Amino acid sequence: MKLTKASRLYGEVTLPGDKSISQRALLFAALANGTSTISGLSNADDVNSMASCLRQLGVQIKSEGGKIIVEGVGLYGLRQPKVELDCGNSGTTMRLLAGVLAGQPFSSVLVGDASLSRRPMRRIIDPLVAMGAKIEASKAETAPLKIAGRQLQGISYELPVASAQVKSAVLLAGLFADGETTVIEPVETRDHTEIMLNAMGMDVWKEIDTIHVSRGQLKAGNLLVPGDISAASFFIVAGLIVPESQITIKNVGINPTRSYLLGLLQRNGAVIKIANERKSNGEPVADLEIKSSVVNGFTVKGREIPLLIDEIPILAILATQSAGTTLFRNAKELRVKESDRIEAVAENLRKMGVVVTTYEDGLEITGKQELKGAMIETYHDHRIAMAFAVAALVAEGETILEDANLATVSFPDFYKNIKSISA
Ligand code: S3P
Repeated sequence: MKLTKASRLYGEVTLPGDKSISQRALLFAALANGTSTISGLSNADDVNSMASCLRQLGVQIKSEGGKIIVEGVGLYGLRQPKVELDCGNSGTTMRLLAGVLAGQPFSSVLVGDASLSRRPMRRIIDPLVAMGAKIEASKAETAPLKIAGRQLQGISYELPVASAQVKSAVLLAGLFADGETTVIEPVETRDHTEIMLNAMGMDVWKEIDTIHVSRGQLKAGNLLVPGDISAASFFIVAGLIVPESQITIKNVGINPTRSYLLGLLQRNGAVIKIANERKSNGEPVADLEIKSSVVNGFTVKGREIPLLIDEIPILAILATQSAGTTLFRNAKELRVKESDRIEAVAENLRKMGVVVTTYEDGLEITGKQELKGAMIETYHDHRIAMAFAVAALVAEGETILEDANLATVSFPDFYKNIKSISA
């Protein structure tokens, strides 16, 4: 795909439903007793991967009048799949499903695409095995994962990595375990699992940094999925860096464990109006209005990182257009996302003529630097593709994005939105 400089961005962006919340909505509705209706579900590839795995496990999911209807089978109603469960590119699908499958009275196999098959799975294998599951992985401790479900025992588990996927896998396994399961989370991560389980009638509670869960039943109901703030972040940055822009994004999920970038950007000069704050199924939601702004460089490290982990590639693009130095540290997790995002960002920025310093756990960029159009390699990573599509909007000359359509992994209408606000 060829992209060139935009003179101005103006209008409204339509977001997909939040990917993390969509995947949880499908999975939890499947495990509930009764029929659930999901509004606002994302139609991204990762969410479709979760839906297709659940169908293989015997769950009926259908679309009706713009809503998704899930016939919950209850915690013990899943059926042994006849085929391997293909999680595609989705780490959330694989890790959350592993937590559920660990407690089933049958065996199953989770597989993924080339990128997912390289990502670390030891982080979920260790706690699930400690709860009594039997899991075989490749020599490199990656997928395929062969899971022999067992009767699980509750544990107390301190997360060695700040990961909502690992936390969720253990909490979900806890629904099938004897006794209480607690997860100690030294660094806070996104809490959509806890919020949705509570909204569905479970008693999941947090005391300081410890989350408690035990057996129970999930009640079916109407689940609402807000717009995806991680998808919005590409348009927030585009609106800030393309001159004379004004962009509106409605119904954005602003859960504090996901929306750290908003305050950070505002504190550093970004004109972002947050209006009409409300709650939807326990999740905070608002409308955003973004205007072109001069943003100052900033430092993000430590406990801040999990609160904007998926936004770092696009914030690195912002950094090239910011005044002064932007520094990301303690973000080693970026190396095990859909690609090694530290190298993917740095390599592509260098192709665009930018000076970047990389660290084992981060990136440093001093702005403002001119971007030159280049051949961008997406490394099969949707967020790299979208970040550099935004970079192209402020670059001199033509940018060619290989594999641009990868955006469908999280944001199927990404380019349609770019087109409509560039017109
Ligand atoms: C996700 C958690 C994050 C995030 C991913 C989605 C989730 O991963 O990067 O895109 O839905 O729980 P980790 O929890 O592994 O950091």
